[in-house]
Amino acid sequence: WPVFAEDIDAILALKRRRNAVVLAHNYQTPEIFHCVADIVGDSLALAREATRVDAEVIVLAGVHFMAETAKLLNPGKTVLIPDLGAGCSLAGSITPADVRLLRARHPGVPVVAYVNTSAAVKAESDICCTSGNVRKVVESLGAPRVILLPDEYLAQNVAKETGVEVITWAGHCEVHARFTAAEIRQLRRENPGVVVLAHPECSPEVVAEADFAGSTAMMSDFVGRNRPARVALITECSMSDNVAAQHPGVSFVRPCNLCPHMKRITLPKIRAALEEMRHEVTIAPEVADRARRAVERMLAI
Ligand code: 13P
Ligand code: SF4
Repeated sequence: WPVFAEDIDAILALKRRRNAVVLAHNYQTPEIFHCVADIVGDSLALAREATRVDAEVIVLAGVHFMAETAKLLNPGKTVLIPDLGAGCSLAGSITPADVRLLRARHPGVPVVAYVNTSAAVKAESDICCTSGNVRKVVESLGAPRVILLPDEYLAQNVAKETGVEVITWAGHCEVHARFTAAEIRQLRRENPGVVVLAHPECSPEVVAEADFAGSTAMMSDFVGRNRPARVALITECSMSDNVAAQHPGVSFVRPCNLCPHMKRITLPKIRAALEEMRHEVTIAPEVADRARRAVERMLAI
């Protein structure tokens, strides 16, 4: 990829000079995912790997809540996000005051915060979860009812799976909420035999049309394990690009939607982040201590 070569070379040299690593989410574009990332994965893997980083600097190629999680787990390290505007419609849907209100309305009911929330919202919660461990986290609480925020669809999907009553919030992922059950049925008609894997941020109607639902890492593992002849990943566009490069024998049907937040991260911005040591992610200590507890409780499961 000659068009990317100069930025890639510069980033590789800067990583050595700054003693830095790049953690990249599965939705990052292939030139980031395959050429400059040291660690790639879903939100759970990125959080877990963040606890094992030796380098002094972490560049988070992903969205802001992921960089905050890396910072929570590495308070002594410098965590950089290449574009401060890389938000998330789920994280933006709920405030700490909303969580306090929910608690007041449902006294004694444990609060599970999806990792796609701000550190301030995590600080108001009992425990975190990701799409990779939501079922385990909800079941670990042993409670008949839980508050699971802010993704309404993820909450409805896990309620169906576990039988636990889940109090939801009306947040949605703007990427996954766009897929419809009719679209999946159409895709099956047009591609007989296709194996359909959906992210649990999709609506329960879409998940019901899929053969399997799981986090981005679980979808990728499914393809590696089962090597279907033809597969459709009902998720963000870059996923199929990245997984297809790892499994050349598998054909991908691509009914994808783009995440505009993930796409704010580019090679030139990663390069600038390392050159200028920007944009540093910081979290107020009184928020960080409580938010870290929720994340660490999750990682202990
Ligand atoms: P996972 O990679 O944890 O499945 O999350 C998907 C997502 O939408 C992250 O923003
Ligand atoms: Fe947020 Fe959805 Fe984008 Fe993930 S894909 S960062 S959940 S808006």
